[in-house]
Amino acid sequence: MADSRKPFYVTTPIYYVNAAPHLGTAYCTILCDVQARYRRAMGEDVKFLTGLDEHGEKVQLAAEDHGMTPQEWCDSLAPAFHDIWKTLEISNDDFIRTTQPRQVRAVQHLWNRMKEAGYIYKDSYDGWYCVHEETYYTDTQVAKSDEEHHVEGQHLCPECQRELQRVKEESWFFKLSAFQDRLLALYDEHPDFVMPDFRMNEVRSFVESGLRDISVSRTSFDWGIPVPFDDGHVTYVWFDALLNYATAVGFGDPDAAEEFAYRWPAQYHVVGKDIIRFHCVIWPAMLMAIGEALPEHVFAHGFLMVRNEATGQGEKMSKSRGNAIAPADVIDLLGVEGYRYYFMTDCVPGEDGAISYNRMQQVYNADLANSWGNLVSRSLNMSAKYFDGKTPVLPEGWAERENPLREVALGIAERYCPRMGVFDFVGAKDEVMALVRAANHYIEESAPWTVAKDPARADELEQIITNLLESIRICAHLFAPFMPETSAEVLRRLSLEAEIDCCDLSAACEWGGLASNVPVSKGDALFPRLATK
Ligand code: MSP
Repeated sequence: MADSRKPFYVTTPIYYVNAAPHLGTAYCTILCDVQARYRRAMGEDVKFLTGLDEHGEKVQLAAEDHGMTPQEWCDSLAPAFHDIWKTLEISNDDFIRTTQPRQVRAVQHLWNRMKEAGYIYKDSYDGWYCVHEETYYTDTQVAKSDEEHHVEGQHLCPECQRELQRVKEESWFFKLSAFQDRLLALYDEHPDFVMPDFRMNEVRSFVESGLRDISVSRTSFDWGIPVPFDDGHVTYVWFDALLNYATAVGFGDPDAAEEFAYRWPAQYHVVGKDIIRFHCVIWPAMLMAIGEALPEHVFAHGFLMVRNEATGQGEKMSKSRGNAIAPADVIDLLGVEGYRYYFMTDCVPGEDGAISYNRMQQVYNADLANSWGNLVSRSLNMSAKYFDGKTPVLPEGWAERENPLREVALGIAERYCPRMGVFDFVGAKDEVMALVRAANHYIEESAPWTVAKDPARADELEQIITNLLESIRICAHLFAPFMPETSAEVLRRLSLEAEIDCCDLSAACEWGGLASNVPVSKGDALFPRLATK
């Protein structure tokens, strides 16, 4: 376990298995993947976790609707998640399912620790519940929602506007109310506990408005982890689900104490903005109750909305509106790497993103086909053509010579890394694209095809091609977290296979790493241009 590298632990939410993976869940998973790949390239010892949330009433009902037991239903859907993550080049190191024995053991351990610590008590719950959100609502919240969405004889969920259930059952409660001051102190001491900062304000005012104890066991159905000391009670699905992050690094496993000490706490939980209260209020309070360390950051991303071309406004995606876009449709259009690039660089991670097929094509053509792909293909072609299928023979001291591309590339990793580290993927991409654009511009300015005609200018030609290939090498490294396969392919075409699994990104991005006089392969176009309407 002892490793001199810095540990870095990043997690996605665990997804409900009530339906197949969609664009939103893929978005969150790719965000984490890009971060995980970036950290590996920085030499950190990464653990990247994703998985499935398999308990609760919602999953039980979905199973019933399909005539299966809940476990059969979960087992039947799990492969769809594995498959899509594989297709989308998700490099998770672990995949947790809350029905696994390790989670059952961890949740039961949590119950015992909570009981010892005195933060749970038995009472009865009488109130509102939304099965879709798996969330309890207070009378005040429901009254407000009734005012907004008035439907005679019904009470609708403030979040999803589905009909609420009235639940009356015996239940164990978690003393969330005891943590108000400690949570507020946490937010004061660690202002970046919740990112981006405007989400922190939302969380803080929620906590300031007062916290109620929450019901954390259910007795009216049985698809959950049994409470170890009370027959007939199963764990409330969120109390179970949140713990997955700790379970996967050994919580509750007596043989994994060393791993838990090394890996916990997580550096980043990445979640959608709809589930920040669970992650920024309930989860840290649970950890405080049992005396475990708190995650360093919860990064909340916005929602993907579909851009209505007529109004220019973003709309919620839904089957009933007929505007839902499936991951497979985007993969068909952009390919996997184009898919990843588009969502990671055209949607600001903290904000809602307005997506559209038009915009996807524009970004793909402008950045990938016309800029990055074109740069690689022109430069590699010229190198192969003018230098006998190889990179130029690099003269002594070539990397120190001043030239316009070296100027843009100097310090590029220092500008890119701080952005990547905080999910500013748009800003990081802009740094790389600046070099790509400068290189395309340099081709036009230096006109190597003219230089090549004059044998007296052989040194100049060598310099031009060298500068282009070196810029490409650096861009390939910086684009690798976004488009791993394309970057690997570019490095292979430059005979730099050994650099593919880079673990010192800053060193790799220093000007001067190109290999001299090695085979260059032109290959096919990396991003064939899409015909636009
Ligand atoms: N099971 C819980 C999470 C438990 S984590 C301890 C859950 N699952 S979910 O499958 O409903 O949602 C998972 C994630 O998908 C959430 O983070 C949610 O924000 C995200 N998205 C759902 N629709 C989305 C968009 N349209 N756009 C972006 N992300 C969205 O909640």
